[in-house]
Amino acid sequence: TQYRIAVLVGSLRKDSFNRQLANAIVNLAPSEFSFNQLEIGDLPLYNQDDDAHQAGPVKRLKAEIADAQGLLFVTAEYNRSIPGVLKNAIDHASRPYGQSAWAGKPAGLLGASISSIGTAMAQQHLRNVLAYLDVPTLGQPEAFIHAKDGLFDSAGNIGPDGKAFLQNWMNKYVAWIKEQIG
Ligand code: FNR
Repeated sequence: TQYRIAVLVGSLRKDSFNRQLANAIVNLAPSEFSFNQLEIGDLPLYNQDDDAHQAGPVKRLKAEIADAQGLLFVTAEYNRSIPGVLKNAIDHASRPYGQSAWAGKPAGLLGASISSIGTAMAQQHLRNVLAYLDVPTLGQPEAFIHAKDGLFDSAGNIGPDGKAFLQNWMNKYVAWIKEQIG
């Protein structure tokens, strides 16, 4: 079996730590898992008036989520919550009412920030949103990553400091996704 995971990165910044984390952590997963990082930077701002005729990028996002068996959110924290770009993507794919792409897809949460709280508040907000959308989330282990020198090695992989922690996180995520999908 091949497990398909849709990855959503909560930052549009070119050198985003969270994008680097999303790129690097997939190398810690077994080969039976494939990861597809979804583009959310080209989505229009959500407007309920457009529900009946969703824009191309919105339809694409929904199709990619529908095709995935599981989700991985890797998000920045902005002002103690998730960045608006991520909330915008979540709102788009939740609509029209009754046609949410999210329901039932199991999700893992990761986040890195330059402060030592490591996106803890953003992830807590994200859990709240996902609970409403009927997305079960991996409870433990939590991963609040402090983005500092040495997080990644020169090849862009997870550096030695965080390697054991993130490998353990990935092992638990992989086992839990298999259990959830059945
Ligand atoms: C931040 N940052 C931040 N960090 C944090 O730990 N808690 C916070 O509430 C905030 N708030 C915040 C608001 C805004 C508007 C910006 C631009 C930044 C700092 C943030 O952790 C830092 O910019 C990271 O580099 C963002 O993640 P990426 O883009 O590197 O993935």
